[in-house]
Amino acid sequence: MTQSLLNKLSSLVGEAFAKCDLDPALGRVVVSQRRELGQFQCNGALAAAKAAKKNPREIAETILSELKTNDNFAELSLAGPGFINIRLSDTYLKAHFDAFAADPHFGAREGHSSETVILDFGGPNVAKAMHVGHLRATIIGESLRRLRDFLGDTVVSDVHFGDWGLPMGLLIKEIELAKPDLPYFDNQNEGPFPAESPVTVDELQELYPSASARSKEDPEFLEAARSATFELQSGRAGYRALWQHMLDVSVAETKIDFDLLGAHFTEWNGEADTNDLIPPMLERLEKEGYSELSDGATVVRVAEEDDKKEMPPLILQKSDGAVMYGTTDLATIEMRQRDHQPDSILYVVDARQSLHFEQVFRAARKCVSIPEKAHLEHIGFGTVNGKDGKPLKTRDGGVVRLRSLIEDAITEARKVVLEAGMDEKFGVDELEDIATKVGIAAIKFADLSNQRMSNYVFDLERFTKFEGKTGPYQMYAAVRIKSMLRKAREQGLEEGPLTLSADAERNLLLALSQLPEATLAAAEKNAPHILCDHVYTLTQEFNSFYHDCHVLGEKDEAIRASRLTLCAVTLRQIETALNLLGIDVPERM
Ligand code: ARG
Repeated sequence: MTQSLLNKLSSLVGEAFAKCDLDPALGRVVVSQRRELGQFQCNGALAAAKAAKKNPREIAETILSELKTNDNFAELSLAGPGFINIRLSDTYLKAHFDAFAADPHFGAREGHSSETVILDFGGPNVAKAMHVGHLRATIIGESLRRLRDFLGDTVVSDVHFGDWGLPMGLLIKEIELAKPDLPYFDNQNEGPFPAESPVTVDELQELYPSASARSKEDPEFLEAARSATFELQSGRAGYRALWQHMLDVSVAETKIDFDLLGAHFTEWNGEADTNDLIPPMLERLEKEGYSELSDGATVVRVAEEDDKKEMPPLILQKSDGAVMYGTTDLATIEMRQRDHQPDSILYVVDARQSLHFEQVFRAARKCVSIPEKAHLEHIGFGTVNGKDGKPLKTRDGGVVRLRSLIEDAITEARKVVLEAGMDEKFGVDELEDIATKVGIAAIKFADLSNQRMSNYVFDLERFTKFEGKTGPYQMYAAVRIKSMLRKAREQGLEEGPLTLSADAERNLLLALSQLPEATLAAAEKNAPHILCDHVYTLTQEFNSFYHDCHVLGEKDEAIRASRLTLCAVTLRQIETALNLLGIDVPERM
C-alpha cells in the first residue's frame, strides 16, 4: 500500500514547517491551478504568519530555505504575499509512480478506515414497474456500493422492496374482484395453494392503478383493502400465499432492470421481512414509554425544541392496526443492527422523502439500540426533468418507466454508433454490445456527473455525444488506448520502466496520482460527480500527452517503452474509475 502523493508531499513540507517551529499541519499542499508556476502550492505560511503576527513573506522565505535542503524538490519559488510553489524532482515522481502503479487501488485504501456500511438503494415496489424515480436511486446507489467496496469497506447492499403497506391490501381486493374463484380469499383455507402465480407482472401493473383509483371513489373498497392489509400482516394464509406470488413476479421483473443497469444486491429484503420484529418492538416501545396514542394511532414524538420547521410524530400503527412505512423502516434498523452491526446505513432515496427519513432517524436514535457513533444518512437526489424543466413525464402525462428510458438510450446509442460508421468494422452482435454499453454509459455518466441534489434535464442526444464530458466519450478515450496497446503488442513493442522526458508526461502522472483524493472525497460526500470529474481530467490530460508525445512512433526505445507503461496505467485507472461509476468499456469500438 502506498500513500497518496499529496499526503506524502504535505508531510515533507510539514517537516520543514516543524523545523521552523511552526505547526506541521500548515504544510498542507494542494495541486497548483497554474502549472507554469509549479506543480503544487503551499499556502501555510500565510496562516502561520497570522498566528505569529509576523510578515508572511518572511516566514515563507525561512520555510523555503529549509525546503531547499531537500533534493526531492526540483524547483521552489515564492509568489505573492507568501505562496510557496513546488516542482518535484523526476526521481521522486518516478518513485511515486512505481509505487502506486503496483497497487490495484492506486493508494486509495491508505486514506480510508474501513467500516461496515449498509447501502439501501433501488427501492422498487411490488406490482409497480420501476420508474424514472428509481433510475437515480439505482445508478447513484450502485456507484456508491462499488466505491465503498473499492475502498475496502464491508458493504451490504439491500434493495428494500416496498412490499408491505396498503398497496398490498388494495391489490388483494382488486384481484378478488377480478378473479373471485381463486382459493386465496377463503378465510378457512389454510393451503397448500397453487405453486403458479395467478397473476402476471403485466396484469399486476394494470391492477394496481385501477385498485388505487377505485379506493378513491369507493370508501367501502378502501376499508376492505385496509383490513386486508391488516390481515395480511397478521398472517392470514391465503393472503400470504397470494402476496408471495405478487412479490415473486415483481422481483423477477425488477431483476431485469437491475441487470441492465449492472446493480448488485447482497440482500433482497423488503419491508415485509420486519414483520416478526414489529409486534415485540411495538410492545417494547410502549412499555419503555417511547410511544403514545394520538387520535387512535400509536406514534413516537420526534420533534425537538430547536426545530425550525414542523416535525410531525412518526406514526407506528394506525387505528386499524396496520403498520406504516416508518414502522418497517424503524424495525429494519433494528434488524440491520442485529444482523450486521453497521457503522453506517445510507439510504439512497429521492430527496422528497427527506422528512420521512428525518423522522425515522430521530425515532431510531431515541428508541432503537444502535451505537451513538453509528451513522444514519439519507442520500437524497434531485429529479430527472424533461426539456420543459418539469419532472419527466410520458407524452400523455404518465410516469416514465425505467425500462423505456434504458431502451431509448440504447436506441439513441445505436444511431450514434451507426453514424460513426461502426457497422463497417463490426458484426451485428458486437455492434449491439457496443450500442448497449454506450447507451448505459450515456445515462449513467450524465446522471452521476451532476451534483447529486440538483435536478437535471434528460437529453439523450446530448448524453450520447462522442465528445466533451459524456460517458460515451470517456469510454471512447479508454478504447483508443486499448487499441493502441493492442497494436504495440502486435508489433512486439514492450512496456518498460518509467523515464520522464516531457512535461505532458509529468502532468499525466500528476493527474493519475490524484485518484486517492478523488475516491476519498467521493465517498466522504457520497458524491460520484467527483469521480466523473476525475475521469474527465484524466482523459483530457491523456489527450494532451498524446498530442505532445509520440508513443508507437517514438524512436528512442526506452522512452517508447516508458510511454507504453504510462498508457497502460492510464487505461487501467480510467477503466477502474469508470467501473466505479458502473460503466463497462468494450474491447473495441
Ligand atoms: N420503495 C420506496 C419508494 O419507491 C423506496 C424505499 C427506500 N428505502 C427505505 N428504506 N425506505 O419510494
